Amino acid sequence: MHQPSTGNRILSGVQPTGNLHLGNYLGAIRNWVKLQDNYECLYMLADLHAITVPQEPDALRRATRETAAAYIACGVNPEKSAIFPQSAVAAHAELAWILSCHTPLGWLNRMTQFKEKAGKHREEAVLGLYSYPVLMAADVIVYKATHVPVGEDQKQHLELCRDIAGAFNRAYKTEFFPLPEPLILGEATRVMSLRDGTRKMSKSDESDYSRINLTDDADAIAKKFKKATSDSFPTIGENLENRPEALNLLTIYASLKGISRQAALAECGGMNFSVFKQALTDVAVAHLAPITAKMRELLASPDYLDQVLAKGVAKAQGIAGQTMREVKNLVGFLQ
Ligand code: AMP
Ligand code: TRP
Repeated sequence: MHQPSTGNRILSGVQPTGNLHLGNYLGAIRNWVKLQDNYECLYMLADLHAITVPQEPDALRRATRETAAAYIACGVNPEKSAIFPQSAVAAHAELAWILSCHTPLGWLNRMTQFKEKAGKHREEAVLGLYSYPVLMAADVIVYKATHVPVGEDQKQHLELCRDIAGAFNRAYKTEFFPLPEPLILGEATRVMSLRDGTRKMSKSDESDYSRINLTDDADAIAKKFKKATSDSFPTIGENLENRPEALNLLTIYASLKGISRQAALAECGGMNFSVFKQALTDVAVAHLAPITAKMRELLASPDYLDQVLAKGVAKAQGIAGQTMREVKNLVGFLQ
């Protein structure tokens, strides 16, 4: 595991837009848990980012609580790490505005996620979807975070975050903001859809069979892996470069077991698809069942969740408030 020096701080978050899936868990949250021992950690619920696409208010409230419960159920320890809704700390949006005045449009025009999400309807896409990476940069640097654990798909946004922090520093002749490092850790940095091994597993895929949700029970997990796209090669382990589905399932297996892909290949390479899928199901069920149970328990005690979030908000506001006072001074705002 990555070894930090002292004084390092982590910020990361997931959008509360529905069920968390195995990609969120293996690509991000599981790494957050390990990092808690060596860093000061802040883990937000990215609700401001969630509304870059339409959300139903009650569903957003529900998903925000569920996502908080999922963080804790996965092992984020509220005694060590701050957990809070992004929208509760006004400094995120405030700093995003200031940063937007230091971000050339050309930088945003390169963002592949915007191009994918806006698709053919670019003229109708909302401004927030376009400026999303500026808000993400504010999320990170308002805490002067030094490291940001995310899945592979967020790498480009974090490169932009470094560029924006650098642009601010240059504009005010300062080294005020540290340039944060992405931490893209583990075997499963990009978990793919179970139906199409060339597309990433995503909350927004219409087919629930494309993903394993953290709330899926043993039956659902078994069914989804059984239906996952297969091919007719005799064993799971051969010719993997040309078999994205087989490679994806093997990577998930390795990651769940905490072993390298090589070790998973040595263990399971000779199995056929259906035998391997059974082994994968067993590992996934054993791993996810306690998480699902803990999530249910947490959602049944809303007072506890509220307390955790209130404590997280207070801590985050303290750090972000201090940054904003200094930023306003650098920019030349009267205070
Ligand atoms: P999102 O669901 O887009 O809010 O993503 C939250 C976190 O999960 C980010 O760190 C993403 O990089 C990570 N993530 C999302 N989907 C995947 C995936 N399919 N594989 C690996 N990491 C993912
Ligand atoms: N954009 C991230 C995602 O969809 C979520 C996010 C918002 C985030 N702000 C962040 C992740 C800051 C890391 C740091 O996955």
